[in-house]
Amino acid sequence: MVLSEAGIRALFPEIDEISDAELRRNVADIWIEVAAEAAWDRLEDVPKNLDAERDRRLTDHIRGVTRMALALAEIGEREQGTPYNRDYLIACCLLHDVSKIVETEPDLEGRPTDGPALPARKSALGAKIQHAAYATHKVFEKGLPLEIAHVVLTHTHASNMRSTSVEGAYLFYADYADSDAAIHKVGGRTFAERWHLG
Ligand SMILES: [Fe+2]
Repeated sequence: MVLSEAGIRALFPEIDEISDAELRRNVADIWIEVAAEAAWDRLEDVPKNLDAERDRRLTDHIRGVTRMALALAEIGEREQGTPYNRDYLIACCLLHDVSKIVETEPDLEGRPTDGPALPARKSALGAKIQHAAYATHKVFEKGLPLEIAHVVLTHTHASNMRSTSVEGAYLFYADYADSDAAIHKVGGRTFAERWHLG
C-alpha cells in the first residue's frame, strides 16, 4: 500500500495538532513505511481487531482514541492542573496501533463483516511478535523520544510492563473507552465488563 503524507493527514487530521514539525513528519513517515510493508490495499479496509470489533475500521478507532485521550488530558489539566505533553500524547495515540496493519492481513476466504472493514487474519508477524513491538521498533528507528516508545509499547495488556506516564494513562483508558463505545452499541461484552485489576 502506497501512502503519502497528504493521505495520512486526510485519514488522521489530528496529526496537524502536533506542534513539533519534526515529530509530525516522523509520525507520518512511520505510517507510510509500515503501510508499504502491509498486505492491505487500503488503510480504510483494516479492521480494528479480529473478533468483537472486526466490522469497524482501525482508522476510526485510532481517531476516536486520539480525540478521547485529548479530552481526558484537557479536563485533567483544567480541573486538576495535571500537566501533560500534548505533542507526545497525540503522537502516541496515532502510533499505538500502527503495527496492526502488518500484524494482520486480508482473509479473502474469511466470513464477511457487517461493516466497512474487511475480513482479516493474523499475519506471520502477528502470530510471532507481540502486539505493538513492531510499532515500538519503528519509534526507535526514527529516533523519537524514549517516552513515546514507552507509551506505545505499554499501551496493551500484551506488554509485560505498564506505563508510568500520564500520557500512557490517557491513551490506555481512551483505547478501552473507544472500544467499549463500539462494542456496547452492538450489544457486545465490553472491556469494562471483563476488567480485572492484577
Ligand atoms: Fe487501540
